[in-house]
Amino acid sequence: MRIIAFYSPKGGVGKTAAAVNIAYLASQSQCKTLLWDLDPQGAASFYLAGAEIVKGKKLSKLLDGKSPVAKFIHDDVYPNLDFIPAHSSFRNFDIKLDQDAGNNVLRQMLAPLSEETSLVVLDCPPTLSRLTEQVLALADAVYVPLVPTWLSLNSWTQLRDFAKGKKFGAKKLKPFFSMADRRKRLHRELIASPEDYLEQPLDIIIPYASAVERMGEEGQPLEVLAPNSVAAAGFRKMWAGIQRDLWKR
Ligand SMILES: Nc1ncnc2c1ncn2[C@@H]1O[C@H](COP(=O)(O)OP(=O)(O)OP(=O)(O)O)[C@@H](O)[C@H]1O
Ligand SMILES: [Mg+2]
Repeated sequence: MRIIAFYSPKGGVGKTAAAVNIAYLASQSQCKTLLWDLDPQGAASFYLAGAEIVKGKKLSKLLDGKSPVAKFIHDDVYPNLDFIPAHSSFRNFDIKLDQDAGNNVLRQMLAPLSEETSLVVLDCPPTLSRLTEQVLALADAVYVPLVPTWLSLNSWTQLRDFAKGKKFGAKKLKPFFSMADRRKRLHRELIASPEDYLEQPLDIIIPYASAVERMGEEGQPLEVLAPNSVAAAGFRKMWAGIQRDLWKR
């Protein structure tokens, strides 16, 4: 079982869109996938199955060890794609994790799934908290969407330094440009030579595209909604790269 996360301390940069699209593409390539929406706002539910998605369960039952994580999973939202929806109680994750300091609680929760799950995709909230620290420590790779602006690059440097300081392995952080709008001069300049600004950027640019915005309205991944769009091609390229990263395929 491999674990990847989509994370950035900045909000609204395309983490959830990428997490959902990559989880869907993984499931389509016969990879048994679990997408876990760790953000109490629960946006992944909207992208995946519309607003009527089955509700998440209270976190307390999971954290006091009375219910295994399997009980929180909605099986086969799509074939090969299981899903743990967020619940507003996920806001309390940090308090619970503090009480259990020293253990990677997330790792312990996921361990029993390792036989039947090939890939876990964690969609993180835009905060730097104990939860996201555990994610950074645990994940095999963390994909970091960056809108091509100076502020975004600045927050990337901070995240990279934080990961280095904590010895999480800064190499597992994989930055890529997201919501890139070629009509904007700064966007064009920054995406022209990402290696000038980023260490080992992915060769992936997800464009600003109305098709991605429509995911929330239609409740479908891009591969279903607009497979011929440039953004869908970007996510397919990204999934190919993730497979190479994780399984050296
Ligand atoms: N490539 C894109 N092109 C156009 N709109 C996009 C793109 N990616 C995301 N969006 C839109 O931007 C908004 C934020 O996207 P998303 O929810 O994926 O970001 P996020 O980083 O997960 O946000 P949060 O930090 O709130 O969790 C959504 O309305 C989404 O539809
Ligand atoms: Mg999100």
